[in-house]
Amino acid sequence: MDIRIYKLTDKNLAPFELMLLADPSREMIEEYLVKGTCFVVENDNEDVIGCYVLKSNSPVEVEIMNIAVAERYQGKGVGKQMLEHANNYAKQSGYQQIVIATANSSMYQLYLYQKIGFEMLRIERDFFVNHYSDKIEENGIPTKHKVVLGKDL
Ligand code: COA
Repeated sequence: MDIRIYKLTDKNLAPFELMLLADPSREMIEEYLVKGTCFVVENDNEDVIGCYVLKSNSPVEVEIMNIAVAERYQGKGVGKQMLEHANNYAKQSGYQQIVIATANSSMYQLYLYQKIGFEMLRIERDFFVNHYSDKIEENGIPTKHKVVLGKDL
């Protein structure tokens, strides 16, 4: 599938419904969207089918705060291409490390990120218990801990 990835200049056009797939908290999304840079993915028909947000944590470290692909386009390699794009953009911008966080229960994400070279850095225990009011689970596993993965650029 042919896709085009570009930086969104008007943050008011950020695809919230996609970002909510990756993060159920609209409040948190709004917070990192202000500080970060949003990239969107368009298909041949100019439909927005994916997005990711990059935020600088320090002069050397950048974080992928949100990455999402519309449900009907998942599993077709779009996520992988966005992660490669983020990697290249961060490297060209002079960062030395790129990080991404997910949940202990996000088995597919943990698989995908490690497959393309991210390694586990640390676990923030009970992050989801403390920051999200609803009890959540995925793949039959309670969503409790935040797993931070990183890759040297
Ligand atoms: N289960 C297991 N593996 C799967 C899969 C599934 N349901 N769907 C795809 N894969 C595999 C692909 O086969 C591919 O592996 P391969 O290289 O060995 O063939 C690999 O995962 C990459 O898949 P890709 O198609 O690039 O991923 P994607 O376009 O679906 O994007 C996400 C990945 C996570 C961004 C996307 O699924 C998504 O938006 N999920 C909901 C939001 C979310 O959870 N965001 C991340 C928050 S941390």
